[in-house]
Amino acid sequence: MNTPEISPSSKDPANSMSARTVAQLPTDQELVLKVIPMPADCNANGDIFGGWVMAQVDLAGSVIPARTIRGRFATVAVNQFVFKQPVKVGDLLSFFSKITHMGRTSMTVRVEVFAERMRSSSEGFLKVTEASLTYVAIDESGQPKAIQNVDHKP
Ligand SMILES: CC(C)(COP(=O)(O)OP(=O)(O)OC[C@H]1O[C@@H](n2cnc3c(N)ncnc32)[C@H](O)[C@@H]1OP(=O)(O)O)[C@@H](O)C(=O)NCCC(=O)NCCS
Repeated sequence: MNTPEISPSSKDPANSMSARTVAQLPTDQELVLKVIPMPADCNANGDIFGGWVMAQVDLAGSVIPARTIRGRFATVAVNQFVFKQPVKVGDLLSFFSKITHMGRTSMTVRVEVFAERMRSSSEGFLKVTEASLTYVAIDESGQPKAIQNVDHKP
């Protein structure tokens, strides 16, 4: 990733010393989803439920495969999933994605999620989640199918 300038967030007391904000969103990945979580998406701590974030990441990760495969496909694996910072109600979340591997029937994408804390005075974008997911093209009977018109060489 073209990592933007990193600066410690000093304005928002809710951000711990380990919380890091960036001044701009990535420019080398595709913006595939923007969404604001609601109170109904919270866990018992009052932060956003991890399962909600995972569902959004799966949806966001499927955007590039949908455009590439142009047919049926399924998520076969979540290779990596890291919740780096909590997601808060009212955060404006931006999901960025890019292809990291093209296989014969599968493709792997990386998803990075950045939050803008709309309910605080902090500025910048906080990376809250990063993940890697693999999607497989499938035929009508649900069996793996070669992805067409793609150079499968590494
Ligand atoms: C997707 C599915 C058809 C693949 O079947 P399969 O028998 O594992 O197929 P294969 O072993 O031939 O693998 C197919 C491709 O998936 C990849 N793959 C399989 N398991 C994988 C894993 N755990 N991690 C990463 N890639 C994987 C293989 O490397 C292969 O890729 P390639 O052709 O690009 O080299 C089958 O696993 C399935 O139906 N899973 C359920 C999918 C689903 O319901 N998802 C939603 C969950 S709620």
